[in-house]
Amino acid sequence: MDEVQELREAIRRARGIVVLTGAGVSAESGVPTFRDGDGLWKQRRVEEVATPGAFREDPRMVWEWYDMRRRAILQCAPNPGHHALARLLMAREDVTLVTQNVDGLHDRAVMEAGGTLPHPRLLHLHGTLFVVRCSVCRWEEPNSEPIEDLPRCPRCDALARPGVVWFGEMLPEHALEAAFDAARVADLALVVGTSAVVHPAASIPRVVVESGGQLAEVNLDPTPLTPLARWSLRGASGEILPQVIVE
Ligand code: OAD
Repeated sequence: MDEVQELREAIRRARGIVVLTGAGVSAESGVPTFRDGDGLWKQRRVEEVATPGAFREDPRMVWEWYDMRRRAILQCAPNPGHHALARLLMAREDVTLVTQNVDGLHDRAVMEAGGTLPHPRLLHLHGTLFVVRCSVCRWEEPNSEPIEDLPRCPRCDALARPGVVWFGEMLPEHALEAAFDAARVADLALVVGTSAVVHPAASIPRVVVESGGQLAEVNLDPTPLTPLARWSLRGASGEILPQVIVE
């Protein structure tokens, strides 16, 4: 049996799967990744745009950058990798899909597969680009419109900000807890298109392995998780995932 067949079997047999995705799963949709060749963090210094300090100093510049990303991503569509994962999530109740991506493409794939949002087992560890929230109070709302003027909170009039997690901020508590809870009882971690260097996200598959489960990785290149992987499938997730997910 080759690795693709083996992983297909492992997915079918598993009782409890935690999928962790990163920017690579959206690369074939045309969304730039963070750390590859001309990735986003190669173009701008992280501290310039993705920190609370940057927003305090120059909210207009920060919003321009996020507005540009939002517009670009709205031109992109989920690829066969997103569709395969959406099918898996919807076919089985023992699957949890944890994403670091803020691009909303997993959500769009779930919707296209007939699901409703928010999906309780689709966890956004780093928030989403298509929510705008207050920088002071708890107000937030879904929003995919172009940002022309600096948005303000309708409740307290403070500046509103993108609904993403910035460097130095806490991750959303519910998503984080649900991800680690699922990892402790899963017997397979499927790690797709992430460089696995940002924590705590990258610790989630380690918890699966520490709890006795197996790890499968789909990535163009090796990562710090590769030594833990029972299966390492080297290639594009949009090609590999539809082959290993047959649900
Ligand atoms: P990275 O840009 O660090 O890593 C992308 C990974 O995807 C790399 O390991 C590539 O080899 C792999 N890859 C690229 N194209 C692929 C394809 N078609 N198929 C499979 N793999 C592919 O992105 P992340 O790991 O998602 O956080 O980065 C993690 C976090 O760092 C992001 O969520 C973001 C960033 O700083 C925040 O903004 C909080």
